[in-house]
Formats: sequence, structure tokens, C-alpha cells
Amino acid sequence: MALKIGRGAAARPFLVMDVIAAANAKAAANAKAAAAPPGAPGVIRMEVGQPGTGAPRGAAEAAIRALRAGAPMGYTEAFGLPSLRARIARHYQDHYGVAVAPSRIAVTVGASGAFPLAFLAAFDPGDRVAMAVPFYLPYANILTALGMAPVLLPCDAATRWQPSLAMLEALDPPPDGLILASPCNPAGTMLPPDEFAAIAHWCEANGVRLVSDEIYHGLTYGTVPEATAAGCSASAVVVNSFSKYFSMTGWRVGWLVLPEDLVRPVECLAQNFFISAPHIAQVAAEAAFGCIAELEANRARYRRNRDLLLAALPGMGLDQLSPADGAFYLWADIGHLTNDSPAFAARLLAEAGVATTPGVDFDRPRQPLSAPQLLRPGGGHGGGGGPDGAVAWPARRMTMRRMLPGTA
Ligand SMILES: Cc1ncc(COP(=O)(O)O)c(C=O)c1O
Repeated sequence: MALKIGRGAAARPFLVMDVIAAANAKAAANAKAAAAPPGAPGVIRMEVGQPGTGAPRGAAEAAIRALRAGAPMGYTEAFGLPSLRARIARHYQDHYGVAVAPSRIAVTVGASGAFPLAFLAAFDPGDRVAMAVPFYLPYANILTALGMAPVLLPCDAATRWQPSLAMLEALDPPPDGLILASPCNPAGTMLPPDEFAAIAHWCEANGVRLVSDEIYHGLTYGTVPEATAAGCSASAVVVNSFSKYFSMTGWRVGWLVLPEDLVRPVECLAQNFFISAPHIAQVAAEAAFGCIAELEANRARYRRNRDLLLAALPGMGLDQLSPADGAFYLWADIGHLTNDSPAFAARLLAEAGVATTPGVDFDRPRQPLSAPQLLRPGGGHGGGGGPDGAVAWPARRMTMRRMLPGTA
């Protein structure tokens, strides 16, 4: 007899993970066949948003010291090491000038581990949670798996791919929650601080729980100032992580800034779901706050990569690009080249050795309707795999010229 399979198993795949697998396979095949000429870059990895750098030196050394000292690395308190929580709280004062009590900080298993805790504490099955489209796919998949209903707000270049107050006011009834991400994945665009604050105030006035994903804070390039929801709303939930600016993706540590009414509910959920974030990662994360010079050098590299892509892609025929204010990404319209972004991304990988992400991952709802097909080149990778190599290497340019008619 076939047994029941729960609705969580209906979560759609995150296509970028398939691109990663294909890019890994191609890189391995290249290496085996010694196909690439000496000195040529291998597969240019622009498909996934993770820093090419590892944990900053001081963070890695703190972890090594702790292990050498024989620290048993047991569970921590569910909300994390008190010293790390205090250090994160201080970061809000230092970086944004906002006072946050350490008791409101919850250390989590990455931002990914924070989402189910925040959603379960703030919402019930059936609750409607709004978000801009294109969006980071796991928001909708996690909400759906928990029985909640994503409300999708189609956004485009007119609002810099971000939701507007007018879009929210048009929702009748108002949703139960709103997810904001500024900078966002996949477009890298930000909400100016006054618009961000206006949306946060609208949420408070209308009983809408704001969840602000601030994971790309720190990775901004000076075009729009960063605004934290912790500074303009007492009821908002802030999600952040050591995965991006702090360059500690695989250490799996993030945090929440919680409104007072959600502190105990989230703590109870965290105790049951995860017990605690990895102890060793918390030790390293605390030390990462002392590594700002190294992290700022990383940021300078991302900015160069972004500037390089923004300057070079129009000459290759990709001239409709999101004005990325931060994060690692550009959102590129390829509607004039193809109506099938997954096939185009597959060809770009097979023929030019450039791994990008098809936009359908981030905007499936409009897919059947929309002529424009979108591609997301990330810019986060270092170590020879970044866009600097993709644009500069002559042989690769020749292949891209065949695919992108405007390529000079
Ligand atoms: C917008 C956004 N939020 C959250 C995450 C998850 O990050 P973490 O590694 O902290 O789980 C990502 C990862 O790419 C992301 O792009």
C-alpha cells in the first residue's frame, strides 16, 4: 500500500542547485580531459551567491584555538553563546546607531534556519505573507511547506524590482505578513531608506508582521544607504547571517533580531527544532567581527566585479540589467535572445563554460505570461572563477560572441 507523502515534499527544486551540479560535472570533465589550455580559467562560476573567499583569517584562527584548547563544543543555549549575542547587539549600535538588547538576538543555523522559526512564531497555517517577485525561492517554498500562503507582488524595473507602498495598499484585505529584502536576491536592488521606513510604518499601522531579510547588508556599493527594520519598527523581525558579508557560508550561522513578543515563542521553537547553532561556528562568528579590514577588501572585489559586469554586458547585447545596489547579483533580460532561460543557461555553460542561473527560479509565476526571460549572473565568486575572468578571457569571449550577438 502506498503511504502518504506530506505536503512538505511538494517543495519545488531550487534550480540553481542543479546548475551547480552541472557546473561541477563540467569542471571535473575539463580537468580530466585537460581540455583547457594552460593558464585558462576553468568553468566561470557565476551561478550561486556565495563568497569565493573562506572565513576571515581571525575567525578561522579562533576556531582552531578553541579546538586545540580541547573545548568540548557541546550544545550552546538555544539562542546562542551569550558573548556572540552581545557582540551582534553591539553591531547594531556601531553600524546603524540602533540600540538592540542582546536578549532580542537569536543565533540560528544560518538565515535558512531562522525562516521556519520566524514564520512559525509569527504566522498560522492559512496566513497570507506578501513578497516581491522576483524573490528568493525558499521564502515561498518554506511558507508553503508550513501551510502558509505566499502573496506574490509582481515587480519590475519601474520600482527597482522592490515592492511599493501603493502595491501594499492595494491588497484587500492586507496580508498577515510581508517579507522585504534590501538588497534583494536576485536583482541586488535596494529600497531607499525613506521608502523602507514608510513600508515598515504601514506594516505596523495595518497589523502586518514585517520580516526583513538583511542578509546582504554590508555588501552594498554606496548607491543607496542601508536601513535596518530594527531601527524603524518595534514589531519587525530581522533576519541576517554570517554567510555573505562575513564570508562564512558553510559554517551555517545566522541570527534574528526579534520583537519582544516573539522572543519566548522563537526560543521554544529553537529549543525543539535545532537545540542550538553549531558551537564551533559561533566561536568563529564572534571573532569575525574583528576582521573588518579583510572583509572590506572582499567587498571591494565584489564592487569591481559588479562594475565590470555592468560595463561589459551591455556591449555583449545584455543591456537590460538591474541597477544592482548591493549583493552579488544582476538580473538580466534576455527576452531578445531566447524564450527559454534554462536552455540558454545550459548552453552558456556547455559552450562558453560560464555558469549562470536561469531566472525561472525567481519568477516562475509570470513565466507562462511573460515574454522576457531572465538570467541571473552572480558576482560573488573570487579565486579566478569570478566575472573578471569571464569577461577578460579571449577564447571565452569568442564563444560568448556567438551566443550574444552584441558582443564586441
Ligand atoms: C536572500 C537570501 N536569504 C537567505 C539566504 C540563506 O542564507 P544562509 O546561508 O544564511 O542560510 C540566501 C542565500 O543565498 C539569500 O540569498
